[in-house]
Amino acid sequence: MKIYVPLDSAAKAVGADDVAEAIAKDAAARDLDVTVIRTGSRGMIWLEPLVEVETDAGRVGYGPVAVEDVPALLDGKLAGLGLVEGLDWMKGQTRLTFQRCGVIDPLDLADYEAHGGLAGLRRAIAMAPQEIVDEVTTSGLRGRGGAGFPTGIKWNTVLAAPASQKYIVCNADEGDSGTFADRMIMEGDPFTLIEGMVIAGLAVGATQGYVYLRSEYPDAIDIMEKAVDLARRAGVLGADVLGSGRAFEMEIRVGAGAYVCGEETSLLNSLEGKRGVVRSKPPLPALEGFLGKPTVVNNVISLATVPVVLEKGAQHYADFGLGRSRGTIPIQIAGNVKYGGLYETAFGMPLGQLVDEVAGGTLSGRPVKAVQVGGPLGAYMPRAAFDTPFGYEEFDGQGGLIGHAGLVVFDDSADMRGMARFAMEFCAVESCGKCTPCRIGAVRGVETIDRIAAGEAGAVELLEDLCETMKDGSLCALGGFTPYPVMSALRAFPEEFLPAEEAAE
Ligand SMILES: Cc1cc2nc3c(=O)[nH]c(=O)nc-3n(C[C@H](O)[C@H](O)[C@H](O)COP(=O)(O)O)c2cc1C
Ligand code: SF4
Repeated sequence: MKIYVPLDSAAKAVGADDVAEAIAKDAAARDLDVTVIRTGSRGMIWLEPLVEVETDAGRVGYGPVAVEDVPALLDGKLAGLGLVEGLDWMKGQTRLTFQRCGVIDPLDLADYEAHGGLAGLRRAIAMAPQEIVDEVTTSGLRGRGGAGFPTGIKWNTVLAAPASQKYIVCNADEGDSGTFADRMIMEGDPFTLIEGMVIAGLAVGATQGYVYLRSEYPDAIDIMEKAVDLARRAGVLGADVLGSGRAFEMEIRVGAGAYVCGEETSLLNSLEGKRGVVRSKPPLPALEGFLGKPTVVNNVISLATVPVVLEKGAQHYADFGLGRSRGTIPIQIAGNVKYGGLYETAFGMPLGQLVDEVAGGTLSGRPVKAVQVGGPLGAYMPRAAFDTPFGYEEFDGQGGLIGHAGLVVFDDSADMRGMARFAMEFCAVESCGKCTPCRIGAVRGVETIDRIAAGEAGAVELLEDLCETMKDGSLCALGGFTPYPVMSALRAFPEEFLPAEEAAE
């Protein structure tokens, strides 16, 4: 009998290692023929540790499972959830990027191939570089790190740049609040990211790749390092990628933990061993990136989506989605919700459906007040904006952004002036200090919100002015987008920015 237990760090945090060990020990004591297989997470975090038992009909889920439940599990007496694939959360999704996550052993390359892995790379090897780039362009894939820039167009710039050496840099800094998709795929299906990076290398003519991975993800670092080693031994990486005669090597580099090091030019400085300060653009990293050479900088999910685009074809991917947001998006649901986790769906699902139906509303049972979408630089979306379909342009039209697709849900007890202050404070702490509107503006922002709290006349107007200056004058999106959470809180909840006596009237 095969029993699957996640090794994802969210599952480990609630005892998955102990449960896996208890199953193995109890089964051995009873002389049962049980193999415990560690997998990634299915993304249903409220069910972790989610244990799955293989049956003729499919895998039956049990969760959350505690060590005390293990004897009943092995006796067949523990109440199950039914077939995992049949659960509402799973049935409602379109899993393309995350098709194998939670299903396979992340470090079993044969299992990876048996589930469609390497098919995209094999197809890419038979194509000319320009054909690979065109395929990615046709798929409509856009950068999942936040800016939503078309991946194929970025690759085309690097392909066209003449250079003796080019690089692929994967941005795995994942600094946005409420996001964990990069971590989940690196822990649950690392070969997908490796395959995506090799395809990117073949497409643009790069022979070296780096994954810039945040130090706060020790499990992901460990799994990625092991996966790179296994891929090298199997010839997926190295001087002759799968016998193609083309070379691609890669390394994992660990960041020291600054939010701004997720910004691509700051990341490149950090990768070069310098201080993580933002570089002025131009030159674009695509032309002068790592060590001054043409460099593709892409988010983990952008790169990990490339294999399925090549495997199933650009049109298959582009057929999902809405407007200029093509394909699927792994949405990460966090904060005050009943059901938090990762939900991959085609672009277009209204925000309200995600919050009220998929996430099941708040855990506290109180009404939802606002959802911050897109990390610390994203807008607070009030209920009035809940019919906004999940898409880049659609959120932009609401004065927001989808960023890395993280939702953090707040109930009616949230203090929105306090959240606006926090946004400014975060910017002040994380600012790289290169430009004045951000370095000084964020500090003044905190002070101005305190003046609003003290009831000072004209301070709200001053805050609006300051936000305009930061938006228009900042060098990068840290200072440039901090006004989004601040202004959205002010616009949607103006009463919370009034002096106490006026607000009470
Ligand atoms: C302050 C700041 C932090 C960022 N953090 C991240 C991050 O953690 N991960 C990421 O992929 N992109 C992050 N970005 C976006 C990157 O600069 C860049 O757009 C992205 O890595 C490009 O890859 P993509 O086109 O695949 O999205 C950040 C941007 C800014 C301004
Ligand atoms: S906006 Fe802030 S983080 Fe960005 S370059 Fe300016 S000082 Fe640095």
